[in-house]
Amino acid sequence: MARVETGVNKVDQGRGVAYGYGGQESPAYRLGERPVSPFIDTVYGRLNSLAPGSIVIDLGGGAGRFPAQAPQDRKWRVLGIDHDPDAINQAHRVIRPDDRAIVGDITRLAQLSLPDGMDTGDISAVVSHRVLHAVPLSLRRPIIEGGAGMLPPGGEFYASVASIEDWKAGQVNAEPGVVYDCAPIMFGAFDIPRRDPFAMSFFDDTAMATLIAGSGLVIQGASTFTEPSGYDHITEPNTYRGYLLKVDKSTAESTARGSVVWTLNGNH
Ligand SMILES: C[S@@+](CC[C@H](N)C(=O)[O-])C[C@H]1O[C@@H](n2cnc3c(N)ncnc32)[C@H](O)[C@@H]1O
Repeated sequence: MARVETGVNKVDQGRGVAYGYGGQESPAYRLGERPVSPFIDTVYGRLNSLAPGSIVIDLGGGAGRFPAQAPQDRKWRVLGIDHDPDAINQAHRVIRPDDRAIVGDITRLAQLSLPDGMDTGDISAVVSHRVLHAVPLSLRRPIIEGGAGMLPPGGEFYASVASIEDWKAGQVNAEPGVVYDCAPIMFGAFDIPRRDPFAMSFFDDTAMATLIAGSGLVIQGASTFTEPSGYDHITEPNTYRGYLLKVDKSTAESTARGSVVWTLNGNH
């Protein structure tokens, strides 16, 4: 195995990471098992209290792992949105008949038309799992604002992002919120060629608080969890920080001024 490269350059992210759902990237990424995580359990548990027929928006839902791994008897429906048509085709194979998965740009949610049978009034929660850290920096805020804008007062937005405690952050000696091309340590170090960069940043709680400040969302809780990398050659698990964000319009003004109102529970 080649030496692990350090000192990875700060990079421009372009459109964001290409995940290669259509098999055009090598090696293949495998949809993992549901992670053993208090955060994931909390998310599914809280969604269980939604009114039957409620819609949960899955921003950057990819191949549909979030609905596929949800409790079988859930009463809520999922609308997965992803800009990769191959991912959406795969999602169609695993979602329930009352779920939907559509091709769309989550940085432009205001322009999105809901599919037939889904009304905006039924949108009750938003999730975004493993997306925000690999989206170009300038496009993260539109995703946060668009997601918050779909929610009713008190609505919840669950976001998991790469943690500053992730192994890759250690390898590149990452500062929170700075973008690094991790392709050399994820692929090049294993002598695996990759055409595209794997540009991402790593979050700590200050980076998340900064991203959502003034959006109307506040951090209600956070916890750290790990899951398999999805690549056979990377045995180190990925470490994520999961955030429970809540729409609290009353704090939007104060957060805009920089006094973020939040409490953390379940730190680890
Ligand atoms: C690591 S995958 C996570 C997929 C899924 N949430 C999961 O956990 O399995 C990140 C996803 O975000 C999607 N994505 C990135 N930028 C997007 C954008 N602007 N609009 C829609 N989807 C986007 C990618 O296509 C990819 O499917």
